[in-house]
Amino acid sequence: MTEYHSLQWTGDSLVLLDQRLLPHTVKYVDIRSYQELAEAIKTMMVRGAPAIGVAAAYGLALPVANIEFADIDSALAEVRRAAAYLRVSRPTAVNLHWAIERVMTRVENLVFRTVHELENALVDEANAMASEDVQTNRAIGKFGADLVPETATVIHHCNTGALGTVDYGTALGVIRTAHEQGKKVRVFVDETRPRLQGSRLTAWELTQLQIPFTVIVDGAAAYMMKTEGVDLCVVGCDRVAANGDVANKIGTYHLALAAYAHGVPFYVAAPLSTVDLTRLSGEEIEIEERAAKEVNHMGETCVMPETYPVRNPAFDVTPAKFITGLITEKGIIYPPFDDALKRFKESQVHMHGEDNQ
Ligand code: MRU
Repeated sequence: MTEYHSLQWTGDSLVLLDQRLLPHTVKYVDIRSYQELAEAIKTMMVRGAPAIGVAAAYGLALPVANIEFADIDSALAEVRRAAAYLRVSRPTAVNLHWAIERVMTRVENLVFRTVHELENALVDEANAMASEDVQTNRAIGKFGADLVPETATVIHHCNTGALGTVDYGTALGVIRTAHEQGKKVRVFVDETRPRLQGSRLTAWELTQLQIPFTVIVDGAAAYMMKTEGVDLCVVGCDRVAANGDVANKIGTYHLALAAYAHGVPFYVAAPLSTVDLTRLSGEEIEIEERAAKEVNHMGETCVMPETYPVRNPAFDVTPAKFITGLITEKGIIYPPFDDALKRFKESQVHMHGEDNQ
């Protein structure tokens, strides 16, 4: 277990590590309503696709754990309101929708005699998702670590560690497993403008894990590939379309293009809960646009006239053709992705990475 926790259920509240304050301040915040949780997701107190999914799952239990309901019907109605409210808190990461759907499907298919029974079912499902997330990440880490040479230089984008998940991490979990196996890994950490998930969060996690790293600005990645001998790039993702296109933090596409031009393998690590077969290609994935303030300010300092027009897409889509492989908890998927993604997602096969190469 990692010593810090992105989220923890206490029995009647969800404790979140406020990721907006890292790395300077480690502060945990007690969340007691789904409205507070939606705000925490929007403002990125909690972030990362798997973490917001599991947080939302617990969020559905918050009303029943904190409000006295006269009867089961009014409790259920409030849980349904919570689901609708949380569902729209961030649009790109499918895990949020997936998690809410999973909990609601369970709840809608059971009959409850008491509000307490409903609460137990909600918490049980969220607990199951939290522990599955950790197992999933460890499996991703194991499959992915096989791709990391004994001595390796890796570029990583955004934050995909224990902070972006319940624990351990996805792409950062790959790096972590390779390091735990005794491989000599050094990481170039993309700073990840504008929210600096790389320089603030990933660098902080790598410091705790004692994995050597160097922070670079996003625009330096191609130069590092050219001059430093980068062995691979590994990133996480927020949604994988049926054809293997991948939505991830803005700058991922750019990194994939640079990797392609330099012949550097480009891997995307993601749990199968991030695969969305209802989106046939990346063009069908909604990309979140965030406030101009994230671009025209550095912290509270305005760095350009506020009248300048700004665009702030928070994610981009990397076309499947630039992706070497998708590292999932069931193995590594190589192109062409569509059939294998379907098989993996539907859990019709239990296979390991090499089988579909
Ligand atoms: O805006 P964020 O910080 O939530 O974006 C996070 C990412 O893009 C991650 O790469 C992704 O969610 C995977 S986290 C394991």
